[in-house]
Amino acid sequence: MALQKLFETSIGMENEIVGYVVGEAKPYEAELLAFRPLAMGEYLYMEYHGYRVLAFVATSITGSLVISRDLVDPRDVERLVKNIRVGERLFYHRGKVKILGSVDNSLSKLHIPPIPPPPGTEVYKAPKAVLEKVFTPSGPAHVRVGVLLREPEVEVRVNINKVVSRHLGILAMTGMGKSNLVALIAKRVSELGGTVIVFDYHGEYLSLPNTAIVKPSLDPTRLTLDELARLLNIPRNATRQRMVLKECLDSIDAEACGDFFNNLKKCVQGKVVRYGASAQKVLDAVNVYESFLRKILKEASGDVIERVAIGSINAVDLSELHLNHADAVIAHWLSRLLEARKASVWSNGAKGLPTPIIVVIEEAHIFIPVGEETATKQRASVVVREGRKFGLGIIVVSQRPRGLDPTILSQLGNLAILRIVHPEDQVYVAKYCEPVMQDVMEELPGLNIGEAILLGEWVAVPAAVKVDLVREKVSGADIDAVKIWSLYTAKNIDKG
Ligand SMILES: Nc1ncnc2c1ncn2[C@@H]1O[C@H](COP(=O)(O)OP(=O)(O)OP(=O)(O)O)[C@@H](O)[C@H]1O
Ligand SMILES: [Mg+2]
Repeated sequence: MALQKLFETSIGMENEIVGYVVGEAKPYEAELLAFRPLAMGEYLYMEYHGYRVLAFVATSITGSLVISRDLVDPRDVERLVKNIRVGERLFYHRGKVKILGSVDNSLSKLHIPPIPPPPGTEVYKAPKAVLEKVFTPSGPAHVRVGVLLREPEVEVRVNINKVVSRHLGILAMTGMGKSNLVALIAKRVSELGGTVIVFDYHGEYLSLPNTAIVKPSLDPTRLTLDELARLLNIPRNATRQRMVLKECLDSIDAEACGDFFNNLKKCVQGKVVRYGASAQKVLDAVNVYESFLRKILKEASGDVIERVAIGSINAVDLSELHLNHADAVIAHWLSRLLEARKASVWSNGAKGLPTPIIVVIEEAHIFIPVGEETATKQRASVVVREGRKFGLGIIVVSQRPRGLDPTILSQLGNLAILRIVHPEDQVYVAKYCEPVMQDVMEELPGLNIGEAILLGEWVAVPAAVKVDLVREKVSGADIDAVKIWSLYTAKNIDKG
């Protein structure tokens, strides 16, 4: 009711009338003839058939019937522009608007009225108070991520509970602000007392304040066959090699004493008679990778779950690992985290990890790729399916969306899409991401650094946002090569 009162006093009095609905409209979209140019991402408001509706400018066109493309002499344009009388309209401004829903009822998710706006419906700039009701909810699960792109006075808050239960994809070209958004979400979650685990392949979160740096070491006796095979670079289809590895892993597991690598080598050696070349290949792999793997595989490292700093940001430092090794580490963490959350839910908090967790997988097109099996992909697909019930949310970050596994992509219930110009990426995201609107995809090249479209359940309606910059996150910025060269040269001249 309070909302209703708000409109009665604001609409038509102080609010700018932007234009009118023209031509054919549908319940979810309409065309607009406007008094002024429309800005992509601008929010509009209209009333029809008793509904009070919020809409969003999806496309904006300015044209002229007088200065038309049929003119052949630029001097004609000059004459037209000079001689036009003051106040005479030379241009038209049109736009396509997406109807986001009625603001009469629940504001946690807006519903689109079943009937379209009739032509001639007045279209207003959305009142600030309505935008605040929709984009700045004050519930305990809502955290600030920035301000509306075209209405910087309106704060945008997202529902973090929905990130845990429905996961999130952060997609954009390189350098557009994905990791900044990850840092911002991690910071906000830790401010709520929540736990975030970032698999930090580039070591760029290690300097973030209040961040626990977690070494990537794993207890070899706790590894699954798949994880150990990945660490030793043994292909999935090498069935006999995997058989050797499985038999040895089981027997070492049972013995659980002494040096893991010596035990493994001894065991594999013993399989050469039975498995021949396959066992030899496994032995070769162990010998090749042993010195490197000794840095990650340590018997004393215990369960990774015990290393989680609850209520903080945890950055698992993968910066010195090769891809396959990072893949095995992430996969191991994912499976242990899910097991520990299940244990907690089933034991009413007596066992396992006591609180819900958000995990972040950067470079997801490498770890969760399309058309290739990785250990992480297999575990991530289980987390995406089952995590909701056990409080394990996953944030998938990628600069190459078309390289991401479509099954996982299609199960992400929330998205933050920043600038994407590659048409193939746009088509792929539109095809596999449930909450995406095609018109929005076409406008993505128009976004600048840090500007994002938020879609899905964590927002009441699609939000065009200027994301806050996390100033504490120092690494990740473009390198100023020219400045570094000149400083280096100056230093060397001084020395000389
Ligand atoms: N919201 C923002 N506001 C202002 N500047 C930003 C914002 N987000 C990012 N930037 C700037 O852009 C730089 C790159 O951002 P970031 O590292 O988040 O990009 P990225 O998309 O993760 O890139 P990559 O694909 O290379 O990982 C930052 O160092 C920062 O200077
Ligand atoms: Mg990044």
